[in-house]
Amino acid sequence: METHFSNHLSESVRSVVYSSLIPTCPLIPSPRTHHSAEDFGDMGDLLKGVALVTGAGSEGIGQATCIALVQHGIKQLAVLDINADGLAETKRLVNEVREVNVLELQVDLAEEHSIISGVQQANDHFGRIDILINNAAIAGAISPSTNVATSDFHKIIDVNLVGLWICQREVIKRMLQQEPIKQRTGPASRGVIVNLSSTYGLVSPPALLSVPAYVASKHGILGITKTDANTYAKDGIRINAICPGYVNTPAMRAAARSSELVQEEEKKVPMGRFGEPSELAEVICFLASPMSSYMTGSAVVVDGGFTSI
Ligand SMILES: NC(=O)c1ccc[n+]([C@@H]2O[C@H](COP(=O)([O-])OP(=O)(O)OC[C@H]3O[C@@H](n4cnc5c(N)ncnc54)[C@H](O)[C@@H]3O)[C@@H](O)[C@H]2O)c1
Repeated sequence: METHFSNHLSESVRSVVYSSLIPTCPLIPSPRTHHSAEDFGDMGDLLKGVALVTGAGSEGIGQATCIALVQHGIKQLAVLDINADGLAETKRLVNEVREVNVLELQVDLAEEHSIISGVQQANDHFGRIDILINNAAIAGAISPSTNVATSDFHKIIDVNLVGLWICQREVIKRMLQQEPIKQRTGPASRGVIVNLSSTYGLVSPPALLSVPAYVASKHGILGITKTDANTYAKDGIRINAICPGYVNTPAMRAAARSSELVQEEEKKVPMGRFGEPSELAEVICFLASPMSSYMTGSAVVVDGGFTSI
C-alpha cells in the first residue's frame, strides 16, 4: 500500500491542501516529494572560507576547535588570544594536521580598540571572514554575590559578554560586505558565527559553586546570539550558541583535583564523565557548516545529559 501522503496528490491539489492548512502563510511553498543528488552537492570539504577563533591559545575547546576546523577543510585560519605563546602552540598543532595559512592575533578582549584592530588585521590578511567562533572567556573565583566586588563583576562581563559582542559586531560588519560563498549543501553562506555559552547560560550552578558574573555573562550570550541571529538572518548570516556542560580542559582538571565539590559534579553527569574538548569541537564544526543550514538563534546543549535531569 502507498504510504506517502504527498505522493497521492497532484501539485495543484497539494497546493490547495497546504494553503488550507496554513491559510495565513501564503508564501510557504508546497513541499517537494523527492530530493536530488544536487541538493547535497559533492562530498568535498565540509567547511570553506576563512575562520577566526577567539580563545585559541589554551589547551582547551578553542585549540581543539582550530584542529577540527582544519580537519574539516579550513585552510585559512585566524587564531586570537591574549596569550601569544599559546597561539604559537595552536599554530604548531594545526600545521601537524595540514599545512594551512594561520594568522596569530594577540588581542585583549577587554579592550575595544584591541578587538577592532584584531578583526581588521584578519580581514586585511585573508580578504574576508566566513566563520567566527567566539570561544574566549574567564570564569572568575567561586564566590557568592555578596562577596563579589563590582569591579570584578565588570571584568568578567567585559571579556565574556561585551568583548564577545564587539567581536561579533565587527565581524558581522565585514560579513555584510562580502559575497556569499557556495557551500557543499544548502544555500550559499555570507557568514556563520558560533558563540560559546554554557549550561550555566541556561541554569545556575549549585550554591557552593557560585560564579555570578560568569553565569550572567553566559545567559547574556544567549540573548545577543538570538537578537543578532534574528536581525541578520535575512542577510544570509547564521548565529548559534553552544552550551557545554563540564569539559575536560586544563582548568577543569585543576578544579576537579582541588575540589571535592567539582568531583561530585562529575558524578551527576548521566554519561558519568566530563566531555572532551574534541567532542565540543565537532558540534561547533557542525554549527559552522552547511549541515546546520536551517539553524539560527539556537542554543545547542552538549553536556552528557547534565541538564536533562
Ligand atoms: N571547560 C568547561 O568545562 C566549559 C564548560 C562550559 C562552557 N565553557 C566555555 O567554553 C569556552 C572555552 O572554555 P575552555 O575551558 O576551553 O577555556 P580556557 O580557559 O581553556 O581558554 C580560554 C582562552 O581565552 C583566553 N582569554 C582569556 N581572557 C582573554 C582576553 N581578555 N582576551 C583574549 N583572550 C582571552 C585565554 O587566554 C584562554 O586561551 C569558554 O567560553 C567557556 O566559558 C567551558
